[in-house]
Amino acid sequence: MTARTKLQSWQHLTNHADKMKDEHMNDLFAADEQRFNRFSLKVSGFLFDYSKNLITAETMQSLFTLARDCHLEEWREKMFTGERINQTEDRAVLHVALRDRSKSPLIVDGENLTEMVNSALEQINAFTQRVRTGEWLGYSGKRISDVVNIGVGGSNLGPQMVTEALKHYSDNCVNVHYVSNVDGTQIADVLRPLDPEKTLFIISSKTFTTTETMTNAQTAMKWLVASAFDENAIAKHFVAVSANKENATKFGIKEENIFDMWDWVGGRFSLWSAIGLPIALDLGFDKFIELLEGAHEIDQHFYNSPLEQNMPVIMALLSLWNCTFLGSQSQAILPYDQPLHMLSAYLQQAEMESNGKSVNWFGETVDYPTVPSIWGEIGINGQHAFYQYLHQSNNVVPADFIGSVESTTPVQGHHDTLMANFFAQTEALMGGVNETQVREDLKAKGRTQEYIDNVAPHKVHKGNRPTNTILMNRIEPRSLGGLIALYEHKIFTQGVLLQICSFDQWGVELGKGLANRIQQELTQDDVSNPHDNSTSELIKHYKHIKANS
Ligand code: F6P
Repeated sequence: MTARTKLQSWQHLTNHADKMKDEHMNDLFAADEQRFNRFSLKVSGFLFDYSKNLITAETMQSLFTLARDCHLEEWREKMFTGERINQTEDRAVLHVALRDRSKSPLIVDGENLTEMVNSALEQINAFTQRVRTGEWLGYSGKRISDVVNIGVGGSNLGPQMVTEALKHYSDNCVNVHYVSNVDGTQIADVLRPLDPEKTLFIISSKTFTTTETMTNAQTAMKWLVASAFDENAIAKHFVAVSANKENATKFGIKEENIFDMWDWVGGRFSLWSAIGLPIALDLGFDKFIELLEGAHEIDQHFYNSPLEQNMPVIMALLSLWNCTFLGSQSQAILPYDQPLHMLSAYLQQAEMESNGKSVNWFGETVDYPTVPSIWGEIGINGQHAFYQYLHQSNNVVPADFIGSVESTTPVQGHHDTLMANFFAQTEALMGGVNETQVREDLKAKGRTQEYIDNVAPHKVHKGNRPTNTILMNRIEPRSLGGLIALYEHKIFTQGVLLQICSFDQWGVELGKGLANRIQQELTQDDVSNPHDNSTSELIKHYKHIKANS
C-alpha cells in the first residue's frame, strides 16, 4: 500500500464508491430539492454546477477530509510562497507570481521575483507598443504586419489557444501566426503569403534546445536572409523568449531582443510570461494585463477560500472521485463557445503532461489510477460525432460543459439554439430514459408491438453520466484568464491528492533521445543503430522508398 491508500479517508471513499455505484442521480435529485444549491458555486463571474455528479453530501465531506489528510492547504501555501515543490527538478512553481500585480515583494532565494516580473512586463509593454505603432521597422523600413510565433507545447498551445479565443478583441494591428510542427508543410504554408520585409518572428523556447523549434527557426532565418541578402536584417525580424539566453544568443538572436523567462515557470503554465508576447502583440498590452488580472482573481480565490467553497479544489476532488474511485478513464472537455475551440488541446497538455504519471513523490509505483486522458471538441460538433458514445457506450466519460450567457459575436437566433443544446445535453446525460418510458413513447406514437420490442432496447439511455457545467457571462480577456487559472489550480490540487510530481515531464525525454539517434540513421548512409525488429524494418522501408523516389 502507498501512503495515500493507507489513509482512512481514502479507504472510506473506496467503500463509499462501491455503494454509490448502485445509485442513480435521478433518485438523488428526486430526494433533494436543494441539490443545485448544495452542489454549485458562484465565483468571479463563473457559475460552477457540479450537482450532476454521482455524489451526496457524504461524498463531498469525505473528499474534503481526504484533501485535509493530504495537507492540501499546506501545499497550497508552499506553492504561493515559492518553496521548491517541483521536487525532481528542484524548482519553485510560481506562475501565480506572473499575474500578481500587487507589487508586494516576493523574495525567493534572495531575489525579488515581483521586481523581475514587473520589469519583464515593462519590456513586453514597450516592445508591443513599438511594433503596434509602427515604430519598430523591418530591414527595408516597412512596418511589421505579420508576427510568426515559432514554438511547441507550452511555448505554443497557451498563446495560440488564447489568441484564438480572443480574436474578436483584436484590432488587427498585426496578424499573428503559429508554427509548432517540424513538418515543413506547416511553416511553408504559413510563410507562403507573407512578406519577409514586414514579418517578425518570435522564437519561443524555454530551453532553446527543442529540435522542432530550432529547425523551424533556422528555416525562418534562411527565408528572411534570402530576401534581405544581409544577416544584419535578423536583428530587426527575430526576437526570442527563453530561459536560456546563452543558446538564444548563439543561435543568432541579439541579446536586447531576448525576453526572459525563468526556471520557476513551467512551460505549460507560461502563457502569462513573455511566452504570451503574441497575445500582447495581437490584442494590445492592456488586454494582456486584463487576462493576467482575471487569472489573479482566481489565484486569490484558490489561495484564500476554504476547501468547501473552493472551485478548483472541488473540480480536482470530483475528477479524483470520478476517475480514481469510480473508475472512469477519460474526461471530455466540451466548450460550447466557438472561441474556445482549442481549449481541450490546451488542457490535454496542461493536465496530461502534469499528472499523467504512475510514480509518486517517493518514487513508488502508485496503486491507484491517476488522471484520466483528456479529450474533447466544440460541443455542438461533438454532438454530431462522438456524443453517441457519451450517451450509450459502456464507458462512462465525465465531461466538463463550458458555455457563456452571451456570445462574443451575437448573430440573431443563434445563441439560444446553441445554449438549448448545452443545457439539454447535461440533462440527457444525467437523466437518461428507461425502457418503460421508451416503450410508452413508442406506443403513444402508434408503433406496432413488434417494432416496439425490436427498437426499445436500442433507445434506452441509462443516464447517470457525470457532468460539470461552467457557465460564464461572456468570453473576454478577464474571464478567459480566470478560466485557465481554474484548471491550473485543479491540476495542482490533483497532483497533491495523488502525490504526483506535477511539474516535471520526464516521460517526453525517452522519445526525444531516440529520435535524435534515428535522425542520424535517416540522414547518414553509414549510420545504423540496433533496434527492435519492427523499428529496424520501418526505417529500412522508409530509406528504401526515399532512395528510389
Ligand atoms: O514536450 C515537452 C516539452 O518540454 C514541454 O513541456 C514544453 O512545453 C515543450 O516541450 C517546449 O519546450 P521549450 O519551450 O523548451 O521549447
